[in-house]
Amino acid sequence: MTARTAPHDDPALIEYGMQRLDWTRSRMTMLANVRERFIKAQPFAKTRIGVDLHIDVKTAILLEVLKAGGAEIVATGNFGSTQDEIAAALRHQGMTIFGKRDDTLDVHRTHLARIIDHTPDIILDNGADLIATAIERGVERTIRGATEETTSGHMRLNEDYAGKVPFPVIVINDTPLKQIGENLHAVGESFVESFMRITNLMVNGRRFVVVGYGWCGRGCAKYLTAFGGRVSVVETDEIKALEAALDGFRVGTLERLRTWGDVFVTATGRPNVISADDISRMRNGAILVSVGHFPWEIDLSGLRARASSTRVITDSIERFDLAEGRHVIVLSDGRLVNLAGINPKGNSIESMDIGFMLQALSLERVSAGPVDGLVHGPQAVPDDINRFIAREMVAELSRGG
Ligand SMILES: NC(=O)c1ccc[n+]([C@@H]2O[C@H](COP(=O)([O-])OP(=O)(O)OC[C@H]3O[C@@H](n4cnc5c(N)ncnc54)[C@H](O)[C@@H]3O)[C@@H](O)[C@H]2O)c1
Repeated sequence: MTARTAPHDDPALIEYGMQRLDWTRSRMTMLANVRERFIKAQPFAKTRIGVDLHIDVKTAILLEVLKAGGAEIVATGNFGSTQDEIAAALRHQGMTIFGKRDDTLDVHRTHLARIIDHTPDIILDNGADLIATAIERGVERTIRGATEETTSGHMRLNEDYAGKVPFPVIVINDTPLKQIGENLHAVGESFVESFMRITNLMVNGRRFVVVGYGWCGRGCAKYLTAFGGRVSVVETDEIKALEAALDGFRVGTLERLRTWGDVFVTATGRPNVISADDISRMRNGAILVSVGHFPWEIDLSGLRARASSTRVITDSIERFDLAEGRHVIVLSDGRLVNLAGINPKGNSIESMDIGFMLQALSLERVSAGPVDGLVHGPQAVPDDINRFIAREMVAELSRGG
């Protein structure tokens, strides 16, 4: 079955995508149980879900589960992270999936608009892009409810769209389950995996400066240390800076640490936390990389303006030549390296089983219509959902114990 709007996908691409789905599906055991329940209960019958989420192999399993629950899926990936074989495999299953990995930002924006033009009943958002598009197009009142995946999206809803969202938005990131399971452990682990895969450089003995000691930054610092990396931290929040110091890390300003580090990792969710001026003072050959949601944490346009030349050395590794024969390296265009780099694996399957259980059960709650406890605008995942998933995961990890 092929969606009406689908391009003609290469059968080999579809087959490759389907093979990747098989492995991941077999390891997302909690979602498998939900799928069985959804098949019987059909919580999304006659419901169109508009999705803006990294189209990778784990997201695909979530979309399959929602479809098994009766949903019509209209989806696009986040900018730069769509895996073409996965998009092809999902189209092959009858979902409408817009976009491909090398879309420009402008093309990506047209996909967001097309999803809103499909008049979704429910939105599954990442970075609040779809909710913002719906509000800009004046169609937000047709939407029943939404989930939002990230910290960045939550900040945007609070700062730019406060009081303008006339439906409940359950913010998945606000649960300790996602913060611990994904942002801390999975991002930390997949950051180290991505750095090593892309650069083929060793971590042990290397000097890393982690900018931002929130959930993701703590994870990066923890797993870099586990691999023998030497880690320093830059953090603007005094309490988190103290926490980093008590966790054993050297803490300082970027101004001080920019000449110390070999590798600079941003995990703040904020724009231009490393300026072109900072970069121009770094050691020769310094490497810059981000795990933040938007590709704006490293001031790349400022760096491009200063560079005498730039060159893609190999996939996901770009060299910027600066004054006096010096150069710096940027990985994956400053996009979140664990999802947008070459051959990205993203976060571990099990961590995303937790994250996407949160999505599936929160979307089910939103789809049920006006329910006690849900209010308009952003809010946390209902506690009973958190505790149910925590119990399931502990049972899974502790089986036989
Ligand atoms: N790559 C992934 O797979 C992935 C997964 C989850 C979240 N994210 C993204 O990672 C980013 C961080 O998420 P989080 O959950 O760690 O957020 P968080 O709010 O827990 O942490 C961000 C930290 O950055 C600090 N900070 C802000 N500006 C700073 C600056 N200029 N210098 C130093 N520190 C600064 C804040 O004080 C805070 O402690 C967000 O953009 C989020 O969407 C990425």
